[in-house]
Amino acid sequence: MPNPITKAVIPAAGLGTRFLPATKAMPKEMLPVVDKPAIQYVVEEAVAAGLSDVLMITGRNKNALENHFDRVAELEATLEKKGDLAKLQRVNESTDLADIHYVRQGDPKGLGHAVLRARMHVGDEPFAVLLGDDLIDERDPLLSRMIEEQAKRNATVVALLEVDPSQIHLYGAAAVEKTDDDDVVRITGLVEKPPADSAPSNLAIIGRYVLRPEVFDVLEKTEPGKGGEIQLTDALQTLASDDSAGGVYGVVFRGRRYDTGDKIDYIKAIVQLACEREDLGNDLRPWLQEFVGSVRN
Ligand code: G1P
Repeated sequence: MPNPITKAVIPAAGLGTRFLPATKAMPKEMLPVVDKPAIQYVVEEAVAAGLSDVLMITGRNKNALENHFDRVAELEATLEKKGDLAKLQRVNESTDLADIHYVRQGDPKGLGHAVLRARMHVGDEPFAVLLGDDLIDERDPLLSRMIEEQAKRNATVVALLEVDPSQIHLYGAAAVEKTDDDDVVRITGLVEKPPADSAPSNLAIIGRYVLRPEVFDVLEKTEPGKGGEIQLTDALQTLASDDSAGGVYGVVFRGRRYDTGDKIDYIKAIVQLACEREDLGNDLRPWLQEFVGSVRN
């Protein structure tokens, strides 16, 4: 049996230009989704799947990220003095969540390059990569399912989502074959952000990967691809075309996913999550219905 996976890598060095000016002085990962920064949902998801050793790949301007997962003595003391234990607990949640490490990406040379920066920390073990733009509903445990498949097949595993063909140019797209498992496919090819008319399928990679350490050697040799960046998708394509590292499989996700990567999706994610919250939903849902009824096109 291979070692159980314990490490999660979260690339968080992007500039967040889609959210300017909000991201001028603040990392996009710190944008609140309802009342928690987006990145906290991602760390919570890793921890829920048993991965409490988290490495964030950061860049300039990311101090707020480190501060968020650190103690804040003055605030804690004030809340304690006031006896506001509920708020104190909210403050401490992110501090106690996981064992978080940081490494800077340096040059912004793409997702593949960011993942390669994790090599020293990860060592010779399989590990997970979680991208912050995708939030997965905690009721639909995708990552645990992927970890299970990785252990069973000793392969590389990515998360796939069926998207509208008009959207596939925004994602890595997979050519696939069926397996005996209804939610698992074998990946025979991958292309980063293909035009709709040449995409191998409308199965898109969403931001969850369970990788074998062999990916690091492949990334070292991967030339810049789409957008002049070193693409993780290209390295996975190399692994898919050579079975010596166990091949690449996709877990097809059919659960609830919230994209926070652009403004409209970010707004939708907040509304959806807030509607489902016990403390907010009861007030928000009827208001929303009334508001929608009053909106003119
Ligand atoms: C990255 C990957 C892409 C993947 C996507 C998922 O792209 O390069 O293959 O489909 O994440 O969110 P990005 O959205 O960072 O441009």
